[in-house]
Amino acid sequence: MSVPTEIAKSAAPFLPFTRPTIDDETIAGVVEVLRSGWITSGPKVKEFEAKLSEFFGGRPVRAFNSGTCTMEIALRIAGIGTGHEVITTPLSWVATSNVILEVGARPVFVDIDPVTRNIDLARIETAITPATRAIIPVDLAGQPVDRDRLYAIAKKHNLRVVEDAAQSIGSTWAGKRIGCFGDFVSFSFHPNKNITTIEGGCLVMNTEAEAKLAEQYRLQGVVRSGTDGMEVEVVGGKFNLTDVAARVGLGQLPHLEKFNAQRRDLARIYFELFAAPAASALGLRLPPADFTNSNWHMFQVILPEEKLTIKRSEVMTQLQAAGIGNQVHYPAIHLFSIYRKRGWKPGDFPNAEYAGRNILTLPLFPGMTRADVVRVVDALVAILKANSRS
Ligand SMILES: Cc1ncc(COP(=O)(O)O)c(C=O)c1O
Repeated sequence: MSVPTEIAKSAAPFLPFTRPTIDDETIAGVVEVLRSGWITSGPKVKEFEAKLSEFFGGRPVRAFNSGTCTMEIALRIAGIGTGHEVITTPLSWVATSNVILEVGARPVFVDIDPVTRNIDLARIETAITPATRAIIPVDLAGQPVDRDRLYAIAKKHNLRVVEDAAQSIGSTWAGKRIGCFGDFVSFSFHPNKNITTIEGGCLVMNTEAEAKLAEQYRLQGVVRSGTDGMEVEVVGGKFNLTDVAARVGLGQLPHLEKFNAQRRDLARIYFELFAAPAASALGLRLPPADFTNSNWHMFQVILPEEKLTIKRSEVMTQLQAAGIGNQVHYPAIHLFSIYRKRGWKPGDFPNAEYAGRNILTLPLFPGMTRADVVRVVDALVAILKANSRS
């Protein structure tokens, strides 16, 4: 294993792989909420939901304390549970399939398309059985799944769709913003996402009736009426967003388009630098150069394991030592032990497994400069060159 000396000695400040951008107006707004006497779910959540609904073309939207419970609740609203199957991708944050288990249904994984890294739509129909009730597609790194093909399959087989758009706020399909159309659409506001509420999420639904049910699942199933009436008809959880978090979201949403444009510009620089001869000879797989639809939530490369003498973990360690943050999003889900126990094994989904072993997220966030991207690419190229088979 060889460490390029110019990299190992780097004294530049640490560059994280992501970092939220919170402005002073938002911080002052949060302080105001903290001093207001009402800090849990209240007027700020309602205001945030109204702004989100405006953003999503007037569709019903409710806010929650994660972009995980949003998907669980969508499945519950759709009546999906024991005895049902839900088709999804093995290359995602494990939340995507855990929610299927949580409601008592069975995940049915379909391998990814190695180019888009999203579920391979051409393979979905062969995975459909009489027990299939829904599809959960994931827009990995903000690259949207082809919504035309997705909804054509769903319609043909009468399936619900819970779009895991955790990473794709502000992405578009055929000129329309993700969330403005389709069935259930779930977003996350985790700090790594393009906008944040610290922790949080929202669910876009079809009808006010679904939204009312979502409110019940959000807080213990409770429905209030009159002055002191209370009823509980469904087993709900504790998934409400606080007003403090909602105020952060209210300060973030107006900046989303600008944040996404900055991400796009930085992604273009990555492509430009990786196209240089020394970099392009390495055999790295870059993401699709989609500057029409993607919100560029992440810039992920796939390392060429067959050409390298070191594993991804060593590449990560050397980048980290050079002051460059990096992460894995994600290992293949079906190889986690709770999934292996349910029968999945290595070899089941070769494209997801290759990506799961070799995918690497490089720094990308608003506020990064061209010089930062140059530094990342130079470091990665030097590490890979020093550790490639000749
Ligand atoms: C693809 C994907 N799905 C689901 C989630 C879950 O979101 P949260 O962390 O807000 O629960 C995330 C966020 O980490 C994600 O990236």
